[in-house]
Amino acid sequence: MKKIIIAIDGFSSTGKSTVAKQLAKKLGYVYVDTGAMYRAVTLYAMQQNLISEKYFYTEELINSLAEIQLEFHFNAEKGFAEIYLNGTNVENDIRTLNVSQFVSAIAAVPEVRKMQVKQQHELGKKKGIVMDGRDIGTVVFPQAELKIFMTASAETRAKRRFDELLAKGEKVTFEEVIQNIEERDNIDSSREDSPLKKAEDAIVIDNSNLNPEEQFQKILQLAEEKIQA
Ligand code: DC
Repeated sequence: MKKIIIAIDGFSSTGKSTVAKQLAKKLGYVYVDTGAMYRAVTLYAMQQNLISEKYFYTEELINSLAEIQLEFHFNAEKGFAEIYLNGTNVENDIRTLNVSQFVSAIAAVPEVRKMQVKQQHELGKKKGIVMDGRDIGTVVFPQAELKIFMTASAETRAKRRFDELLAKGEKVTFEEVIQNIEERDNIDSSREDSPLKKAEDAIVIDNSNLNPEEQFQKILQLAEEKIQA
């Protein structure tokens, strides 16, 4: 059967990764969470004291990019690949609000993006991949056979992220979460290098009023149409 590239872009907390994982599992495709890659670089910068609320040593980060090794290893129990930073599984550590607060600044650095896009091209070169992020359909794989652009209201997204963080035991307020989401949307959409925007040929899915199963079925149908075309 023909293998395709499925690019899923969109705003923060629109459920991109949930649907991308479901889709990859159903189709037997590889799932790559590119947000996790930017988050892992952010975690590295935090560990090395290169970024905080008061400073961001951009040049130092750029100079140490060669020391950052990112890998994905499939976790059979969880059913998806987890991210490793220099040999350590950081799948949980990259999901904190703290990392979320700095990740958009890190993702706006062109040198960081260049390094990530190179690795993303490698990961997708055999096709049979579902990749989610912000620039997959526009920059990483503009030739992707299926491009989805996901959106939902900021309140809906903040509520989802807030519930997720609470379930993990993080002490955050709803206001902090919605503020972070709005700030990230703003930085991600207005940065100069590869801003978040809908590819011309992307299909928009607003999931404010769709449940996860309805959303999955809708996108699966679109994928099957492309695979059979
Ligand atoms: O999808 P996420 O929330 O885990 O992504 C974290 C951040 O990384 C997001 O604020 C923007 C950035 N990002 C990006 O710039 N390009 C991508 N392809 C994926 C994520």
